[in-house]
Amino acid sequence: MSTPFYITTPIYYVNARPHLGHAYTTIVADVATRYHSMRGEKVFFLTGTDEHGDKVVRAAKKENLSPRVYVDNISRLFQDLWPELNVCNSAFIRTTDPGHMAVVERVLQKIYDAGDIYFAEYEGLYCFGCERFYTERELVDGKCPDHQVEPETIQEANYFFKMSRYQNWLIDHIRSNPDFIRPERYKNEVLAFLKEPLEDLCISRPKSRLKWGITLPFDNNYVTYVWFDALLNYVSALGYPDGELYQTFWPAAQHVVAKDILKPHGIYWPIMLKAAGIPIYQHLNVHGYWNVEQSKMSKSLGNVIEPLQLKNVYGQDAFRFFLMRDMSFGLDSNFSEASLVQRINSDLANDLGNLFSRVLSMVHKYCQGVVPAVDPSAEMECEFGLQADALRAIEDFDRFMGTFQFHNALAAVWKFISKMNKYVDVTAPWELAKKKASRRQLDAVLYNLLEGLRVISGLIYPVMPDAAAKMQKHLGLDSDTPFFILDQLRTWKAIPAGTRLPKSIVLFPRVEMTEDAAKAGGQSETAPTVPVIKPEITLEEFGKIDLRVATIVDAQRIPRAKKILKLEIDLGKKRTIVAGIAEIYSPEELIGKQVIVVANLKPAKLMGIVSNGMLIAAVDDSGVTLASLEKPVAPGTPLG
Ligand code: ME8
Repeated sequence: MSTPFYITTPIYYVNARPHLGHAYTTIVADVATRYHSMRGEKVFFLTGTDEHGDKVVRAAKKENLSPRVYVDNISRLFQDLWPELNVCNSAFIRTTDPGHMAVVERVLQKIYDAGDIYFAEYEGLYCFGCERFYTERELVDGKCPDHQVEPETIQEANYFFKMSRYQNWLIDHIRSNPDFIRPERYKNEVLAFLKEPLEDLCISRPKSRLKWGITLPFDNNYVTYVWFDALLNYVSALGYPDGELYQTFWPAAQHVVAKDILKPHGIYWPIMLKAAGIPIYQHLNVHGYWNVEQSKMSKSLGNVIEPLQLKNVYGQDAFRFFLMRDMSFGLDSNFSEASLVQRINSDLANDLGNLFSRVLSMVHKYCQGVVPAVDPSAEMECEFGLQADALRAIEDFDRFMGTFQFHNALAAVWKFISKMNKYVDVTAPWELAKKKASRRQLDAVLYNLLEGLRVISGLIYPVMPDAAAKMQKHLGLDSDTPFFILDQLRTWKAIPAGTRLPKSIVLFPRVEMTEDAAKAGGQSETAPTVPVIKPEITLEEFGKIDLRVATIVDAQRIPRAKKILKLEIDLGKKRTIVAGIAEIYSPEELIGKQVIVVANLKPAKLMGIVSNGMLIAAVDDSGVTLASLEKPVAPGTPLG
């Protein structure tokens, strides 16, 4: 049977709309799920909403809605967001689901019957924002560290869970399972906390104060403390204790949370499981916080980032890539739209996008778009260690993804992309294409490049599933199966020779921030780099421009002029033109090419040579691309 992999996000409070932080954790879980399915594992991915408690009642009141209507509205926002971000959760749990509520009652009764819950009068310092009692030493300057308000002293008779009984057991468990809580800094934080005696946990709220919750099965006058209710979602969603999902996936559980909720997950939750006789989960993976322009995201600062807005401007893949690449899992990270734009342009548009379109254009240009067969004698000669580099990238990716080091996994993939770009430069397929004698080498080089792209498409799949599928389609592979399987990536030569490839596409268009957005520090709308359209002209004015088809008959470099080439063109009769294209096109690849020329442009002198006309070309950040026609026509044919 295949290995089970179960991953969860926190269930989010429905007291606010989803923001960047929620999106990050949920995309992490999605990326990990996709990676584990690439390994052939059986996966289950759970997210959901946390709907009980005081916070929610107060948020509903503010909106003049009943808690029931309010939680339905906000939970829907979360449920609708995930498909927009290409998140494929297997289930969505709500703590108001009757099935969940029944499990909470069952577990409470079990722990109560075992004697780990007792009733006592308690006076303590209570923070209404956190919905919990604080000890003096947890306060900072007498205030709740999260809400910066002084807690109120309240006296109540309540039910308590004997956490203290399990303190030594938990310390032993953490010490004997070194990666139970990871990264290590958070394990150390929990162990440091456990150095002090653990207080018992108050797990009830009197109904006189709060009605919106799960009634305690052993006392009708109380509802369950929201954390005790919420944590149990991780087993209730699997149908604890008899459900098939529970039998399959528990305890192979990996929880993903941010550092804000380390304590409930690293201390309450394992102790609750132990007391209820449920096996302990496998790993707690803790990440840092996204700050915005160096400050904490908060409604009052007005800097809350809405994931949907970013996705609508930049696309799912680019947004997901940025989040996974820019945050070192475990550490805090700073969000700015300027860094998102920079990542898109450098890593996606330049490094990967250009490589992809360059290789596919060459296959179209030199092999008519058909995957070449490789002559074994040329195979080794043209290899330059590319396969070994690909295997290294796969192994690094595998190791880092398995330990939640997504930024390192992507860095390993980009190292290989850079190797691929160098391979193009070193092998110079356009030079090989010039001589019949190097045809075998040209085919081998292009085939290797296509295989390298196949490996890359698989490695980017967990983070950018759409771009991965597009790449595979353009490599002539069926995107559904089986090429997103890790073992398949390890096999070189998977693309069959003779496969006809679709024309290349722009995988990642370059983007640019508008001036306003840049000034605002990257908070507002952005626009792609489309230059402003020039002022209108009449047909008569357009008719003055004489555009002609010309064939390049000779091309030469000019000494001491790195950028320009001297071209002899045939326009019906021969002419000389000087063009600034030497950094993109070699003289050899230009000879025989048909281009479009402005034939009646006033002659101009460049580097001492008179240029009689101008080539038409598109110029963008990646350089110059010459305009040409669909099929050859007679030199001198006018355009209009
Ligand atoms: O705590 N950066 O819900 P919650 C990164 N209902 N991640 C962030 C973040 C930020 N700035 N802000 C929030 C709760 N998150 C409880 C959980 S689980 C049984 C109950 C993410 O809506 C991160 O995952 O406050 C964090 O742990 C979670 O949202 C808190 O979500």
